[in-house]
Amino acid sequence: MAKKLWGGRFDKKTDPLVEEFTSSISYDKKLACFDIKGSIAHAKMLGKCKIITKKESAILVKGLESIGKKIGKVKLNSKAEDIHTAIANLLRSKVGKVADKLHTARSRNDQVVLDVKMYTKDAIDNLICLITSLQKAIIKFANKNSKIIIPAYTHLQVAQCVLLSHHLLAYVEMLARDKERLSDTKKRTDFMPLGSCALSGTGLHIDREYVKNNLGFSRLTENSIDAVSDRDFILELLSNLVIISIHLSRMAEDLILWATKEFNFIDIDFSFCTGSSIMPHKKNPDVLELIRASVGKVGGDFSSVLILMKGLPLTYNRDLQLDKPPLFNSTETINNILQVFTELFKNIKINKTVIAEKVRDESLFSVDIVEYLIEKGSSYRQAHDITGKMVKDTLDKGRKISDLTLKELKKYSGKFEKSVKSILNAWASVSRKTSSGGTGPRGVKRQIAKWSKRLNA
Ligand code: ARG
Repeated sequence: MAKKLWGGRFDKKTDPLVEEFTSSISYDKKLACFDIKGSIAHAKMLGKCKIITKKESAILVKGLESIGKKIGKVKLNSKAEDIHTAIANLLRSKVGKVADKLHTARSRNDQVVLDVKMYTKDAIDNLICLITSLQKAIIKFANKNSKIIIPAYTHLQVAQCVLLSHHLLAYVEMLARDKERLSDTKKRTDFMPLGSCALSGTGLHIDREYVKNNLGFSRLTENSIDAVSDRDFILELLSNLVIISIHLSRMAEDLILWATKEFNFIDIDFSFCTGSSIMPHKKNPDVLELIRASVGKVGGDFSSVLILMKGLPLTYNRDLQLDKPPLFNSTETINNILQVFTELFKNIKINKTVIAEKVRDESLFSVDIVEYLIEKGSSYRQAHDITGKMVKDTLDKGRKISDLTLKELKKYSGKFEKSVKSILNAWASVSRKTSSGGTGPRGVKRQIAKWSKRLNA
């Protein structure tokens, strides 16, 4: 059994079942390095404010630093109630009774929220780096295949031609919004809570500003009651992670479809696929499927904390201990996925000839014909009707619009001229889309250049 941080008024030992049931060390050990950093800042502050002597402060700091160096190498006491208790006990065995002074003007209530905020800030920085790497991998892939034109879909029905690179840049945009949301969440996480103590602050003359600066926080929390009970920052990070997982799942789904025999737009390298135990011919995109599935995991973690927080009375309640597994799990899940996805992008081959064949489908150019007629003076409605009729007739008769003679075309509209034939190809189709944000090659090239510059800055 480990020594508790409480127990003075208890005349009985805790039931082993309760020990086991209330313990969080199995997961909050992930907070060890933050707990130590926070304690070092706190010990320094206590010395500076003469709440403990300079010598005592120095002993505490030295002891904590040496524990910090061994974290990850030494086994933590799995019987301790939580990581805060485990480190306090380690410190006591290292520096003796003076360790009992560390918890002056501090409660685990403000200590735990400090640690989780430090974890969250660190996680956000890490996630932003990993998202940037994925964006770079996508841009590289887009740049390498900048001339490839694919059919784009609405309702999963063939719609219009777009540059593959334009399609890929859509992912880059999504991920950019994800990074913005993360940065924004970090701003609201960046309030230092220590000094709130159990819930009401302290009568001891502490220096919160010093701790804040020492730990690299931007601001101080301004209400001790809010500070110890607030977990908005966890909800915010988790909601960001859910949106990220949705983006990743949509990217994964596109690639899964494109890798099917039916689409056959891409080949994913064997090193990123798996086989079947019964069907020897299979090459399955399991990696992408697991990425697609992660929304379930992360969405579940988000709703778990959401429900945990609902109706909790102020201030700290032990319920809050259960905010950590979902936070850690989702952060790690997305971390892993971002790394795998970045590598996967380096392992995709484009099936150029298959794609070139697919974009011969003339239904992809129907909007171009409509716009052609508008430019010749038709109203939009008229142009839509005329083109619709042509599409129907040619489909019914198994013909192609490009094979119609000028005389035949003129039967649909006197506005048709020979020039219409020159717009019935994929390159002409994308080249027409010169509006900003459209799939026109010049605009897309500018976008790629803009993103490359931004991401490498
Ligand atoms: N391990 C707890 C948590 O994660 C912190 C302990 C605070 N416990 C208490 N009884 N005040 O929230």
